[in-house]
Amino acid sequence: MDLTIVGCGYLGLALAERLQLRRPQLRLTLTTTTSERLEQLSPLADRVQVCDATDPAQLLDALRQSSSAVFCLGPKGDRQVDTNGYRHTFVDSFRCLMSLLPQLPNLRQIVYTSSCSVYGDAQGGWVDEETPAEPGRGHGDVLLESEQLLSGISDRRVCILRLGALYGPGRELDRRLRGLAGVERPGNGASYSNWLHVADAAGALEAALDGEWIGVVNVVNDEPIRLRDLVGKSLQRQGLAPVHWLGHDEPGSAGRRIRNTRLKQLGYELQHPNVDQSGVFSASQVP
Ligand SMILES: NC(=O)c1ccc[n+]([C@@H]2O[C@H](COP(=O)([O-])OP(=O)(O)OC[C@H]3O[C@@H](n4cnc5c(N)ncnc54)[C@H](OP(=O)(O)O)[C@@H]3O)[C@@H](O)[C@H]2O)c1
Repeated sequence: MDLTIVGCGYLGLALAERLQLRRPQLRLTLTTTTSERLEQLSPLADRVQVCDATDPAQLLDALRQSSSAVFCLGPKGDRQVDTNGYRHTFVDSFRCLMSLLPQLPNLRQIVYTSSCSVYGDAQGGWVDEETPAEPGRGHGDVLLESEQLLSGISDRRVCILRLGALYGPGRELDRRLRGLAGVERPGNGASYSNWLHVADAAGALEAALDGEWIGVVNVVNDEPIRLRDLVGKSLQRQGLAPVHWLGHDEPGSAGRRIRNTRLKQLGYELQHPNVDQSGVFSASQVP
C-alpha cells in the first residue's frame, strides 16, 4: 500500500509515527501546508510535500502515487476559527479532491477523520451510526457537509471515522483542566463528553486502512463521561479545589453518549477504554 496522510497535526503525526514503527515497508507521503515543517516530518516518510488541500495542483501531487489517503486536516493555528474558516478547510478541500478523482485512478481508499459533533445534542441519550446526524448550524454542520460530499463518491472505498475528543501526550487532560480549580461555572456539569486517546485514534485509522472499512464508524472510548465527573476527578487527582457549579444546565446542552459497537464489531480493541485507565489524566503517566 502507498499511503498519503493529508494534514499531519496532532493525529496525522501520531499515525505517521505508528506506521513507521509497525509498517516500515509502507510507502508513506506526508503533507504540511508550511515549508517550516518539512524538516520535522521528513524522517517519518518517503516523501513530504507542501500541500494545501484546497490547491488542486498541490493535492494532485500529494496523492498521485498513493492507493490510500487519510485526511486528518483541521483549521490552522491555535485560535478558534469561525464557520467560514472551517468550511474553507474541510468543504473546499473535499471539493478539490472530488474534482481530481478522474486523474487519480489508483487512489482506491479514502479515510476521513470527522467528529462526533455531527450528532449534535441528544439530550444525554445514546447515539450510534444509525442515528440521524443533527448538528445544528455551525462547525458540526460543516463537518456533516464534508461527510456528505465524501459519501457521494461511489467508485472508491470511503470510510468516515467520527472521532471523540482527542487527548494524550501533549494534550493531557490534567493540564487542560487545571485552570478550572476553584472557579465558578454556569450549569451543573451534567453534559456528556466522549473521549478518545490519540493512540486509539491512530490505531483505528490503521485498522480502517488494513481492514478496508467502508462507511461511518464512531471511534470513541467505552465510557462517555459527564463534564463534572471528568473535571472533578482530574482536580481531585491533582489535589486542587473543585469547581463550583452554579445551577442548572441550559436546555439542549446535555450532550450525547456515543456508542462504539460498530468499532468493536469491526474487531478494534481499545487500548484506553476510558479516561481513568493508565493515568491518562496525568502527563507523567501517559505511556
Ligand atoms: N482534535 C480533536 O479533539 C478532534 C476531535 C474530533 C475529530 N477530530 C478530527 O481530526 C482532525 C485532526 O485533528 P488534529 O487534532 O490532529 O488537528 P490539528 O492538530 O489541528 O492538525 C490539523 C493539520 O491539518 C493541516 N491543515 C490545515 N489546513 C489544511 C489544508 N487546507 N490542507 C491540508 N492540510 C491542512 C495542518 O497542517 P500544517 O500545520 O502542517 O500546515 C494541521 O497541522 C480534525 O480536524 C477533526 O476532523 C479531532
